[in-house]
Amino acid sequence: RLHHPDLPPRDDSPENLERELRGCASCPLAATATQAVPGEGPMSAALMIVGEQPGDQEDLAGRPFVGPAGQLFDRVAAKVGLDLQDAYVTNAVKHFKFQVRGKRRIHQSPNASEVSHCRWWLDREITQVNPKLIVAMGATAALALTGNAKGILKRRGKIETGLHGVRVLITLHPSALLRQPDPDLQQKQMAHFHEDLATAARMSV
Ligand code: URA
Repeated sequence: RLHHPDLPPRDDSPENLERELRGCASCPLAATATQAVPGEGPMSAALMIVGEQPGDQEDLAGRPFVGPAGQLFDRVAAKVGLDLQDAYVTNAVKHFKFQVRGKRRIHQSPNASEVSHCRWWLDREITQVNPKLIVAMGATAALALTGNAKGILKRRGKIETGLHGVRVLITLHPSALLRQPDPDLQQKQMAHFHEDLATAARMSV
């Protein structure tokens, strides 16, 4: 590959990717978040799980899915036999976007331009891990991976071909399940989430 002689060689190792991501200040979200949260898991993973963005606890810990949504996800994955030791877990957007209300930081969904801007990182993670299957949890991940912003309730449980040429299984986001105010709908959506993670477990062996 041709390379400009004055530049250091481009370093695409996982360590360097993480270092560069931690220093990313290329959008305004970096200024208010505590830190960027990189993906986690083996680079050899056949399965990649993509969420929306770090939440309050992930922002503080610097690790993905350690808060309530992550705990629900872990519980359901264990129940359906999805081994997360062998999965690479990351988010569509790497910085926490929030609004301050009193002492609380209230989550705000990233907009389409933030999602598209942050795809720089997601694309590099997908290139490095080269998974066989990606699970998109929620509308933001589905948008980042497929370019399609249509509602996910009709798309969930199905496989789409993503922008990266990798199969993408769409499912609901665990935070949406936790926030669902209607108990009947919550139960139904929880069942769908179980079903979808079971599909991912079957497809990634
Ligand atoms: N929700 C997400 O989408 N990602 C996280 O890392 C935590 C909560």
